Amino acid sequence: MMDDLRELYQEVILDHGKNPRNFRHPDDSNRQAKGENPMCGDRFMVYLTLKDGVIEDVAFQGRGCAISTASASMMTELVRGKTAAEAETLFATFHDLCTKDDDEQGDHGPVDEDSREKLMVMSGVRQFPVRVKCATLAWHAMNAALHGQDSASSDQF
Ligand code: FES
Repeated sequence: MMDDLRELYQEVILDHGKNPRNFRHPDDSNRQAKGENPMCGDRFMVYLTLKDGVIEDVAFQGRGCAISTASASMMTELVRGKTAAEAETLFATFHDLCTKDDDEQGDHGPVDEDSREKLMVMSGVRQFPVRVKCATLAWHAMNAALHGQDSASSDQF
């Protein structure tokens, strides 16, 4: 069962890595922030179209490894249509999933089952600390854009 799940997760990551969703620059974006992985120099620009506190569109461009690209792609699907507060909850939850043991993870607000399942797919990187920066790269940029910053500080990674 665990092997089946791992295989499924790997397929999802490979699919998003090879065919990233929302890899574009929306014409009407009104927030953007750069995220750069200081370990390798890979970087993404994340674009948000934020209207009345809701993320109406989200996309990204840039260069990254398969894990960072897959995670960026999944991030865009997860936060589209969410309020800024909901997107922050997803970011904080995902960050904990990637960096903390189960009993150390905080409650950052409600996350529906479907979204949690998708966050779990990428959080397998917890076993490989060097890849955590890859998986969280676009998420940090998205969070910076939400806060009106133009880049995610590298010491956050
Ligand atoms: Fe550069 Fe993953 S190796 S972002």
